[in-house]
Amino acid sequence: MTSTVKYALVTGASSGIGWHLSTELAKRGYSIIAVSNQKEELHKLRSELEAVYQVTVHTIDTDLAHVDAANELFNYCDRNRLEVEVLVNNAGMLVFGEVVDVEHERAAAILQLHITTPALLSRIFGKKMKERRHGYILNVSSISAVMPYPTISYYGPSKTFLRSFTRALRTELKPFNVHVTCLLPGATATSLYNNFDVNVALALRTGVMKRPESVAHSGVNALFKKRSECIPGTMNKLVVWLFPFVPSFLIHWINLLRKPN
Ligand SMILES: NC(=O)c1ccc[n+]([C@@H]2O[C@H](COP(=O)([O-])OP(=O)(O)OC[C@H]3O[C@@H](n4cnc5c(N)ncnc54)[C@H](OP(=O)(O)O)[C@@H]3O)[C@@H](O)[C@H]2O)c1
Repeated sequence: MTSTVKYALVTGASSGIGWHLSTELAKRGYSIIAVSNQKEELHKLRSELEAVYQVTVHTIDTDLAHVDAANELFNYCDRNRLEVEVLVNNAGMLVFGEVVDVEHERAAAILQLHITTPALLSRIFGKKMKERRHGYILNVSSISAVMPYPTISYYGPSKTFLRSFTRALRTELKPFNVHVTCLLPGATATSLYNNFDVNVALALRTGVMKRPESVAHSGVNALFKKRSECIPGTMNKLVVWLFPFVPSFLIHWINLLRKPN
């Protein structure tokens, strides 16, 4: 027999946007299956959500860049009879550097994390949702999905895949009452920038960056309103609309200025 508790599975739940997506879902009465590779942070999230919202929280500490991650998560839910009503593919990483300079392991990890794992999780949990004629999937892409820009060649284009994939999946699952939404955040003040020289305080003050709680709130609202996409913030919407019109010769020139040799 399957449990009657409503579960939301959130990847990358141990920090940033994923932490707040989990909180938003707990607020709406969902029990949470929180996944990331940060055991201690996951336990902190569990204590907070269980105390404040009286929901059940399962934590799964695993590497989502591993080739078998999607099967592992599905098997865990199956074994423990957890019926996932909401799937959130949020885990991500930032890799800066030219394609040929990025180490093999980091390149493989970001492709697995942004492309293969979310696609396979959508497949495996989406299939169950389709059979039940009910469910929600939120895939976290980025406004950089419209930026095939040098030095973020793994990040931006892998988010482009996730955006396109989400659109196609949405059309396929809509007749079965399974709603699929893509969240495209712009710059957000999270630990994604921990290893980079970014003045987060200034970026927040000037409105260049948004807070993760506000991005998560917009994303979850859009999901339950069954919207196709959610781009939090007017500036970010403008970027997504206008960036595709930037001619490639201009990007080429900017790249030459960045790297004069
Ligand atoms: N922050 C932004 O400006 C921004 C803008 C657009 C889109 N996004 C997207 O938003 C999503 C959330 O990012 P965030 O900004 O909230 O950054 P974050 O605070 O660094 O959160 C990323 C989450 O993913 C987890 N994760 C990363 N690699 C993993 C792996 N191999 N296995 C398991 N978990 C892994 C992280 O755990 P660890 O702490 O262990 O790495 C963390 O919980 C990402 O998909 C990101 O691309 C962010």
